[in-house]
Amino acid sequence: MAFYVTTPIYYVNAAPHLGHAYTTIGADVLARHMRQRGEQVFFLTGTDEHGEPVAQAAEKLGISPKELADRNAQRFQELMPRVNASNDFFVRTSDERHKRRVQELMQRVYDNGHVYKGQYEGWYCPRCADFKTDQEMGPEHTCPIHLIGLELEREENWFFRLSSFQEPLERLYETQEDFVLPRQRFNEARSFISGGLQDVSLSRANLRWGVEVPWDSGHVFYVWFDALLNYLTALSFARDGEDLTDVMWPATVQVMGKDILKFHAVFWPALLLAAGLDLPKRLLVHGYLMMKDASGKDIKMSKSLGNVLDPFEVMDKFGTDALRYYCFREVSFGQDGSVSTVTFGHRYESELANEYGNLASRTLAMISRYRDGVVPSTDADPVLAGDFETLTQEVSELLDATEITQALEVIWQRVRRLNRYVEERAPWKLAKDPEAAEALDVTLRSLADGLRVVTILLHPYMPETTTRLMDAMGEEEGFSLSGARFGTARAEATVTTLDPPLFPKVP
Ligand code: MSP
Repeated sequence: MAFYVTTPIYYVNAAPHLGHAYTTIGADVLARHMRQRGEQVFFLTGTDEHGEPVAQAAEKLGISPKELADRNAQRFQELMPRVNASNDFFVRTSDERHKRRVQELMQRVYDNGHVYKGQYEGWYCPRCADFKTDQEMGPEHTCPIHLIGLELEREENWFFRLSSFQEPLERLYETQEDFVLPRQRFNEARSFISGGLQDVSLSRANLRWGVEVPWDSGHVFYVWFDALLNYLTALSFARDGEDLTDVMWPATVQVMGKDILKFHAVFWPALLLAAGLDLPKRLLVHGYLMMKDASGKDIKMSKSLGNVLDPFEVMDKFGTDALRYYCFREVSFGQDGSVSTVTFGHRYESELANEYGNLASRTLAMISRYRDGVVPSTDADPVLAGDFETLTQEVSELLDATEITQALEVIWQRVRRLNRYVEERAPWKLAKDPEAAEALDVTLRSLADGLRVVTILLHPYMPETTTRLMDAMGEEEGFSLSGARFGTARAEATVTTLDPPLFPKVP
């Protein structure tokens, strides 16, 4: 089965921060898990390079929009391997192939009769690149996201007949209960629709930095139309000489933050319907990562507010996997939540180092010490078998439901179970009693096997650490999910001890 997962394409008017890494890693966990299941996966991310925000930021710096886009797109491209994102392609909307395809698709929307010319007046936030409705505006015509004054804009524009999709969208939300997850976001989108849809401006006349409207060269497309279409355009040129559209579209899961819900849950399906295309199967909407401001109040992390946790710094110090783990553990994916260096340090030490890291170290050390590094070939302990019986199934089901945090939680319960098992069995005592040799064999074999299973399941969350550990365990079978069954480890694997440990103390 094809599994196509996307992230939003990120604006190049600012440098990457933890918020961008967060969404990307969320999508990556799903992509990696599906690859473990043998699915045909395509994972797309990229940069959104047109529109006023970029043009304005470039002007301030005294460089061309293209120069700024190239410079910052590169920083986003570098972010991907740095956070161990396994994206199959990185799309840039300044790519000529994207632009041509946008023109083709939008021409279709025009030919299908969903576009007309009209006069626009509205309050516009240049940072969001969005006109705000009365409900969306802050006090005195301000942007509630960027806390800046809105601009009253008047111009002749091409309009997209969003209003004519009122009924089809209502039907979509009636019939497809899991189109948007979590439920709260689904309800928000549905009530936005039932509040009555107004037509939206589709082009800008006073801007050159964008994709030219094919039926009116004096206009470029409003950046959101150009941007949303990336999810489709990229499929047509991501692989040389191949068009993946038929194989991969519709997308299986589109991941994003709640700030861009309206565009994806309302505009996007309407635009696809207008072009006669299938709708994505699911939108997965996560919350904001917040940090405390000077007064201790939680605010959304964003470059323009200046409260950014630098993912590069965190990864340099603690490793990429620690950041990946922390993101999904600290904040339930889907909800808003605070992050801080304090809670990061705490989870690193108490969970990664003391629970998983320590379980790995002591399991391998005991096998080395008591059994010359060879995992005993005996049956695994039925006492543990029950705890693992349904685990892989549970994780698959949770990730099918895109419950990234819950899936991690059920795996972690088994990490803790294995640590308790060590305490219960006290192998160091068994080792002193020659009559307990068989019991020690069973204990060590069960620990190795349990550790192997949780490590396969943790692989999508912590690809680097788990690869290192599987090597140290002498496991050659790789990370296929079919191998994540307790009691099926290859007999007599030779292990090596971990030095340094998986999660070393950080000064
Ligand atoms: N370019 C548009 C998206 C177009 S998609 C067709 C855009 N770009 S953005 O650079 O502002 O990125 C927004 C996305 O980055 C959010 O939807 C979210 O996925 C992520 N985040 C940015 N800041 C974030 C937080 N503080 N917390 C969580 N996610 C954040 O909007």
